[in-house]
Amino acid sequence: MDRYERARALCREHGQEQLLAYYGELDEGERGQLLAQIESIDWSIFSDEARVSQPVGDISPIEGMDTREIEARKEEFFAAGREAVRQGKVAALLLAGGQGTRLGYNGPKGTMDIGVTRPLYIYECLFRNLEEVCRACGAAVPLYIMTSEKTDEETRSFLKAHDYFGYPEGKIRFFLQDMAPATDFSGKILLEGKGRLALSPNGNGGCFSSLRRAGLMEEAARNGVEWFNVFAVDNVLQRIADPVFVGATLLSGADCGAKFVRKCEPGERVGVLCRRGGMPDIVEYYELSDEMANARDERGGLVYSFGVILNYLFRRETLEKIARAVIPVHRAKKKIPFLNEAGELIKPEKENGYKYETLVVDVVRLMGSCLPFEAVREREFAPIKNAEGKDSVQSARELLKCNGVRL
Ligand code: UTP
Repeated sequence: MDRYERARALCREHGQEQLLAYYGELDEGERGQLLAQIESIDWSIFSDEARVSQPVGDISPIEGMDTREIEARKEEFFAAGREAVRQGKVAALLLAGGQGTRLGYNGPKGTMDIGVTRPLYIYECLFRNLEEVCRACGAAVPLYIMTSEKTDEETRSFLKAHDYFGYPEGKIRFFLQDMAPATDFSGKILLEGKGRLALSPNGNGGCFSSLRRAGLMEEAARNGVEWFNVFAVDNVLQRIADPVFVGATLLSGADCGAKFVRKCEPGERVGVLCRRGGMPDIVEYYELSDEMANARDERGGLVYSFGVILNYLFRRETLEKIARAVIPVHRAKKKIPFLNEAGELIKPEKENGYKYETLVVDVVRLMGSCLPFEAVREREFAPIKNAEGKDSVQSARELLKCNGVRL
């Protein structure tokens, strides 16, 4: 069977024959591109209903490590974490594939200049924070950067032009996030051109399968990496490969560590660490009932108060055991430009189909055990999500100033 026949058989098997409707009209290059896109489809995303459904089970509080305990055992944790960093056991994994639609900045988020009297890029803040850790530990941390087709070129050229803000280039690896096809409401994959599927980044939960596909999971294992510290691009106070956090997680014996900050009010729109069906998990703010969001313990503190900040440690060996097909898929209704039956490109006014994403928060539950580790909000949490107001450039600048960063 030749390549075309194989793709046709795959499409037939999954009820997606429409993808090859225009094959006869394509030139050689376009044909090759279309076949490659069909070959790389992760079919389990739409064929398995179980993956689309949400996790179930009763929600209950989880015990975590608070700042008092961390402060009391800081030296012990730091020593264990520093040793792990020195031995090359900890790698950082930066999620930089998002489109940052809420911020509306024209370019990858990390390349944004948030300085006032001098240029200060988001990436610069992150690299400085990482360098600080490297200095304290006496070793450079391997840094894996996940970009997507939407951010790849600009991110690479920006960082190169800024000489990686002094970080050793040899310690940095880029890899591309996989794309997932969008479908109409009946599950048929849409085309955005006669030789192109309608594709979009498959969510930040795709980071480990994409890392594997790029051959970098293997490379990390060969180099002795035992932990990945996964973090978001937009928190300019983010502590990366924080040796105290690493040490505490190592010594706890858990397969995962999750930094959290105390919720500032019961209704704050953050995911919250808890147990679900007995397993460590993260509930979204809209999944918590009012009663749960407002519940207080005997000391008056919120029972569900561990807000996650997208900074997790994952044990590599455990990750390797988690098959991609068990990570839940979130299906979101979106407006997706598509080719109609007459072969015309339509830009719909209303939502016309689904995009499919997996999320890194869902990996936490699959790890089986987790150490919730408290971070001081004012020192470690300054996300830039919105153009104005909460979690904006303005709020991040104020927090940077309070932490002694010149703007
Ligand atoms: P967000 O959930 O803030 O999404 O991502 P976003 O796409 O950046 O922003 P909005 O929602 O469109 O405004 C959290 C982290 O996950 C990364 C982002 O780059 C950010 O570091 N991410 C998100 C990816 O790497 N890939 C994705 O497909 C989505």
